[in-house]
Amino acid sequence: MTALKCLPRKFVGSVRRCFSRLGASETRHDVPASSLRSLLPSPENPSPALNRQTSWTDTETSRLTVDLGAIVANWQDLRRRHPSGDVAAVVKADAYGLGARSVAPALHAAGCRHFFVAHLSEALAIRPLLPGAMLGVLNGLAPGQAEIFAAQNLTAVLGSLPEIDRWTAEARRLERRLPALLHVDTGMNRLGLDENELAKLAADPGVLAELKLLYLMTHLVSSEVPDDPINQRQRTEFAAACAALPPMKRSLANSSGIFLGGDFASDLARPGAALYGINPTPGQPNPMRQTVRLDIEVLQVRKIAAGDSVGYNAAWRAGRPSRIATAPLGYADGWPRSMAACSHAIFDGQPVPLVGRVSMDLTTYDVTDFPAIMPGDWLNVIGPGRTPDDIARDAGTNGYEVLTSLWSRYARTYLA
Ligand SMILES: Cc1ncc(COP(=O)(O)O)c(C=O)c1O
Repeated sequence: MTALKCLPRKFVGSVRRCFSRLGASETRHDVPASSLRSLLPSPENPSPALNRQTSWTDTETSRLTVDLGAIVANWQDLRRRHPSGDVAAVVKADAYGLGARSVAPALHAAGCRHFFVAHLSEALAIRPLLPGAMLGVLNGLAPGQAEIFAAQNLTAVLGSLPEIDRWTAEARRLERRLPALLHVDTGMNRLGLDENELAKLAADPGVLAELKLLYLMTHLVSSEVPDDPINQRQRTEFAAACAALPPMKRSLANSSGIFLGGDFASDLARPGAALYGINPTPGQPNPMRQTVRLDIEVLQVRKIAAGDSVGYNAAWRAGRPSRIATAPLGYADGWPRSMAACSHAIFDGQPVPLVGRVSMDLTTYDVTDFPAIMPGDWLNVIGPGRTPDDIARDAGTNGYEVLTSLWSRYARTYLA
């Protein structure tokens, strides 16, 4: 097999297949030493195996490709659909699993100037990459955080009177007005000023005088269900909150909210999911571009007899003599264990059935009807024919959970 190293990569798979058919063992192929060297720690790259790559070596067994160009195109598309105001980028949860340190600068370079994360730690990780941009922290301002927020030029998203007090105290201490969004709860009942707090604030708006209030915001409960009456109720409540407080800009729609029409337009939309290609209009064709693909390499192929079981708890039994391919993808990689037996990967455009339980590091596929599949071949598990929404359907979850679960064991590369 050493001779394969001098062949162009595209030929290596087919030559390997011939060797396998001639009786060579069905194990993974050798890799060139130069490829392995790139996985060794160096002063510039202390943990290379877990870091982003700019191109593939020949050593990975799972490859996550993130298309930054598609994410930027999705943001531009959402801007066209939201002409009433700006469109921010929600990059919390490591940009929904795709890598905030790559995604946020790409959007910034395209002109995005409003970003949101959930945690202070997430904000600190990307603050230096976003010069001049607003960076809001949706989970609010916890006790002890105000000084760091101010020093790092973060925008507090204030969702309770104690948070307003904290940010005002810091503004007084620094003798300057500090930037904030005011978050009102119109139905989510998790964060945001409740009815009583809003009434107090409306009665004494001077409390807000020392803050630089950028937007009043609320978050929609069911924007992906256009007919849900709660959408209109929230819109009405939000309008009432806006009228009760000093005039300021508004921020309303998330991804699906942008598709609810002009009633839900505001000065700043806050999409996350749609940027990453999750369908903001479930049940309708997805208007967004897909941004991610995940390919996994077949590690082994084995023959089993009719009646043999595969994997933990013998959850699947072969109804005929079968070939089983094992690939490095498990629930520790964020691949849902709840994945139904009806799920599949794609090989040469064809669905390859997943069989047996998804285990921590491995999944198994029935490749009996794919005699061409050999160790070293690649199965596509997220791609043009297998969207995160498809996977979510098979696993009984949503595309958000599929993307945010993608874990760092995959080698990653980013397309510009
Ligand atoms: C307050 C807030 N705004 C905006 C978003 C983005 O929502 P989506 O990903 O549905 O666009 C989220 C996501 O959870 C959120 O919590």
